[in-house]
Amino acid sequence: METKNIGLRDIEVADTKISDIDGEHGKLIYRGYDILDLTKNSTFEETVYLLLNDKLPTKTELDEFKQRLIDARDMPRQMQSNMRNWKKNADPMVMMQAFVVALSGYYDDKGANDQEINYQSAISLISKTPTIVASWERVRSSKDIVDPDPRLSHAGNFLNMLVGEKPDAETERIFDICLILHADHTFNASTFAAREVASTGAHMYSAVSAAIGALSGPLHGGANYEVMKMLFEIKTADNAADWVKERITNGQKIMGMGHAVYRTYDPRAQVLKELSRKLAKKTGAPWFEITQAVEEATIHEMKKQKGIDIYPNVDLYSASLYYMLKIPPDLNTPIFAISRVAGWTSHVIEEKFAQAAPKTALYRPKAVYVGKYCGPQGCEYQSIDLRK
Ligand code: COA
Repeated sequence: METKNIGLRDIEVADTKISDIDGEHGKLIYRGYDILDLTKNSTFEETVYLLLNDKLPTKTELDEFKQRLIDARDMPRQMQSNMRNWKKNADPMVMMQAFVVALSGYYDDKGANDQEINYQSAISLISKTPTIVASWERVRSSKDIVDPDPRLSHAGNFLNMLVGEKPDAETERIFDICLILHADHTFNASTFAAREVASTGAHMYSAVSAAIGALSGPLHGGANYEVMKMLFEIKTADNAADWVKERITNGQKIMGMGHAVYRTYDPRAQVLKELSRKLAKKTGAPWFEITQAVEEATIHEMKKQKGIDIYPNVDLYSASLYYMLKIPPDLNTPIFAISRVAGWTSHVIEEKFAQAAPKTALYRPKAVYVGKYCGPQGCEYQSIDLRK
């Protein structure tokens, strides 16, 4: 029998009210709202409320919600001390995954089946993951940890904890928009991982930890780190065409290009491209120009060599943008995660409690066994001395 539906492409496995992608027209909506509208008018905090609650908040609801997020920012001190025992070159995604699941050890009632407790766990994870990432950056660079500042927004507070310096209003807003853009993206690999774990009845921390593991791979969230490595290797915009041509000729992928769902420009990439352009003007850094040259060369070569139209995805321009915000490149993927945790937790709650969706069951796809078959009795077990 032939294996069908490799990678579960186009297989409908659940109903969701959280987000939708129109891959043909390059549209992404969160709870009915176009992300381009949200990036113009909303903030990350308001977008998180929307994702978790299926409606935009009133002013009072937003103020209360922001306060809940602020109150949940601190991570346990023992965990911060424990960070000092880690090797300083530990992968920040591994660190984050381990610390997210370790957080669950601090809460006796993880409330796997209680909606309000899950909502509070979601707030806790959305607020504490930036503290985990920033604290790890400070510890590994032998700098003092910067405590969360309740006067700052989610975006501003993260940059302050990371760099030890309050960002200016423009930088804070640029980062806020990046967080909005990465917050959810339907049934991508990491979200599916979170929902799959939640479908077993496991708690929110386990589900989010699994999602972080899935996000870390270079074909998913890890691509934005790979993009920055690529830009370092290419060095100047003039080198881009030859570099890209050689890779595509050798059957290698160009990171940050192509998408499993979008058949046109990823709307997130459009916004990030303009933000990267803006920062390049402000800083004089070459990274935007090199990225644009990679985009143009990839489009040209893919058309020429394979007759395929290809477009940038969310990771292409976020890499240079984060670098110009003075963020170390290996934190690109953890930063993706501190935003996507809003989507993951919303999906976990939907998976566990949604009434509208047909009651979801434990995910259990079927595999086609193509291994050894020695007949109805099975293969004969040989003692180790007789094996050749
Ligand atoms: N660079 C070079 N070639 C690419 C490519 C890329 N970034 N993306 C796709 N292709 C090629 C494939 O190799 C394939 O060629 P083939 O038919 O000769 O084998 C063809 O385009 C069709 O690609 P396919 O693998 O069907 O696309 P997909 O929709 O399954 O894959 C990705 C989507 C994201 C896995 C793929 O585009 C990719 O690996 N991109 C780079 C990694 C990345 O940026 N990931 C982040 C995603 S948000």
